Order: sequence, then structure tokens, then C-alpha cells
Amino acid sequence: MGHKILIGMQWGDEGKGKITDLLAAESDAVVRFSGGNNAGHTVVAAGQKYELHLIPSGILYPEKLCLIASGVVVDPRSLVKEMTGLKKRGVALDNLYLSPEAHLVMPYHLRLDKLEEEGRSSEKIGTTGRGIGPAYADKSARRGLRVGDLLSRERFTARLEKALSYQNAILEKLYREPVFDLKELTAEFLPLAEKLRPHVKSLPSLLWKIHRQGRQILFEGAQGALLDLDFGTYPYVTSSHPGAGGVSSGTGFGPRYLTSIIGVAKAYLTRVGQGPFPTELTGDQGEKLREQGQEYGVTTGRPRRCGWLDLPALRYAAMLNSVSALALTKLDVLSGFSEIKICTGYKLEDRITERLPDVFQLESARPVFQTLPGWQRDISGVTSFQQLPSEARHYINFIEEETGINISLISTGPERKDIIHRKPL
Ligand code: IMP
Repeated sequence: MGHKILIGMQWGDEGKGKITDLLAAESDAVVRFSGGNNAGHTVVAAGQKYELHLIPSGILYPEKLCLIASGVVVDPRSLVKEMTGLKKRGVALDNLYLSPEAHLVMPYHLRLDKLEEEGRSSEKIGTTGRGIGPAYADKSARRGLRVGDLLSRERFTARLEKALSYQNAILEKLYREPVFDLKELTAEFLPLAEKLRPHVKSLPSLLWKIHRQGRQILFEGAQGALLDLDFGTYPYVTSSHPGAGGVSSGTGFGPRYLTSIIGVAKAYLTRVGQGPFPTELTGDQGEKLREQGQEYGVTTGRPRRCGWLDLPALRYAAMLNSVSALALTKLDVLSGFSEIKICTGYKLEDRITERLPDVFQLESARPVFQTLPGWQRDISGVTSFQQLPSEARHYINFIEEETGINISLISTGPERKDIIHRKPL
């Protein structure tokens, strides 16, 4: 029995929520393995829009197990708020489980995220401000607090006291900022522990049990390949490993049975935050993409930078993650462009390469574009490949030929039903 991994192929915001929701229908468990509430996954089901940040997109199916694994950093305030919001809308949370090994995002992480960002002056990363970088930094430095710590008053208080002696010194001495009070934080956080306690469960053995029972697991990625801490556009990246490689380290489920890796890519490209984006469109066409695609961040509301699809970047993401199939989203957003450009390579000094230049060369590399004919007809909601205008089919075939990867799913709108099942996954 092999399991599926679904990951973002770009700088996040590829529309993974919708594809996860679709694949969750055939899975028994959906697992988040990295990132935190910097993610924002939109799922539209039965005309209702849900915005999920930490909770796996499978939650809209009451019978599916939804697991938040140890590779995720969890802001308990945000998680409890998300749980409460879903409960109010009638979504059952009985099958939601959280790893005791997941690290906590604490209020001082949010404060440090902001202060560090201000200190970067001209080299801002444009973080989501959710404390993600500082929380992962504490995890690596072995001074983090975990969900399991939160469940014991004594343990949490002792570990928090120790953490504060370090964090408050940084805030006070380095930033001349007000410090955090142990009593206030414990008073706020210990009640949250009671809300989370029924959902805390050790996950590696649960995942292994699900596997041994012959049931299907879907590992749901957040962010995207180009935001990977090691292989993304460092330092303009997130602090985790959003790719397929992050699954085993982030869940405790070994790699042997992870056989199907589905990469989700938007039919064009967007990015929030700073960092190189060679195919970015800054004029009217970028504005048109932003408006047609409603490209505003789910988590922060920030307008996304928009541009043409970058095939070298897509090939790179496919290679990094040994992707077995692609899901292409938001094809409908490209309707109404007389022509569509697509980056097929890069010019580096006097040579042209099909590979994405490494990040040290990316700023000076020039994208090489091929221009393809656009289509005028609105293709929203189309469910068959043959019903697409010939230009749209040509666009899909072109991407497939250039990457050598099957485009198995094509999304033509936000609803569950707006999908073309083109090839088996
Ligand atoms: P952080 O993850 O909040 O530290 O932000 C680091 C970079 O990753 C910034 O450029 C963010 O805009 C970007 N980022 C983080 N999460 C997401 C996401 O879910 N979608 C898109 N960009 C993201």
C-alpha cells in the first residue's frame, strides 16, 4: 500500500487546499507535516468557503482522521480559534489529532518575528508575522516548548520560566522592549491546554497502524518548494521543509511507502513577501492577473505579486520532490489574455539554460519567454479537457512536454466540481 504526498511547487498559494480536499475523499487520514499558521488553505464545499491555517483540509469530511504532526509549529491560540470557528459552522472535530511533539509558537515568537523583520531594513523577507521563523529557531536551538509540555501545569510553568529568562533578556537588552510575564502567559495558555488535551495523541504509531490496516494516508503540504529552507530562494524562504522530503522527518512515518507525489502548481505564478521573482509582471497584466485570480493572501490579506509561469522553476521543484504527477490550478484565470508568455529558460551572461539558475545567480539571470496564443472564452467550471479552447489545451500540452510530467488534474474554478480529471494520478 502506497500513500500520497501533495505539495506546492511554487512559492505557496498554489491552490493546494482544493486539491487536498479532492484527494481527501479517497483517503482515510490527512496529515499536515510542516509549517504553521503562516499557511492559509481555502476550500469551497457546497458553496461554503472555509479558510484553514493549521487544521488539515480533510476536516470537512467527518469520517477522515486529520492529524497535525510534529513537524508543524502550533500557535495554540490560533489553533483553538480555528477549532472554535469550525465547530460553530457544524464541522465535527472528533477525528482531529495533534502530536505532543509539535513545537509551540509563543507570543514572544510573534514579537521577535516583527522585531527581526524591522531590523532587516532593506532586506526584509516579508514574513507572515506569525512567529514561524523564531519558533523553528528555538526548536533547533533546543529551547522550544512543545504541545506535550503544555499538558502539564508544572512542566509548562518550569519550561516557560526557563524560556522566558532567555527570551526576555533578548527583548530587553537587544531590543529595549517590554518583557513577558510568566504568570500572565500561564494564565492564558493553561486553559488552552484543556481545549487541546482530548486531541493530543502520539502520531508515528497511529500512522503505522493506519498503514498496516491497508488504509490510505494523504500528506498535505503547506507553503511551496521554492520556500524550502535549504532549496528555496534563501533567505527569502520559510523556516521549514515544505517538500516531499519533509514528510518523514515531520511525521515519523518512514519514506518506503510514500509512492505518489503530486505537485500542485498554479497556471501562472505568484509570490507574497520579498525575494527574487524573475517572471514577475509589474504593469497592467500583473494587475489583471491579481484581480482575475483574486490574488490576495488568505493569512495576511497582502496583495500577491503575479507573473508568468516559470518552467525552469517548475522542473526544479519536480526534481527536488521526485514528483509523479501535476495538478494545475486556476487555469480559468488566464482567460481573456490575447497572448500568454511562459518562461522556458534563463539567459546567464551569454548562455541560455533550461535550468533554474541557483539563487546566487538568479537576480542577474534574464528569463527567456515563449509566447503562446491566449483564449477569450470563459472556461470557469469546465470539467472535460476536450471542452477547453484549443489554445488552453495547447498551453497544457506545452507545459507537459517541457516538464515531462503528466498534468493529471486541472482546476477551472474554486468549487469541488470545477475540475478536469485528465489522467490517472
Ligand atoms: P514566514 O513563513 O512567515 O516566516 O514567511 C517567510 C516567507 O514565506 C515570506 O515570504 C512569506 O510570505 C512566505 N510564506 C509563508 N507561508 C506562506 C504561504 O502559506 N503562502 C505563501 N507564502 C508563504
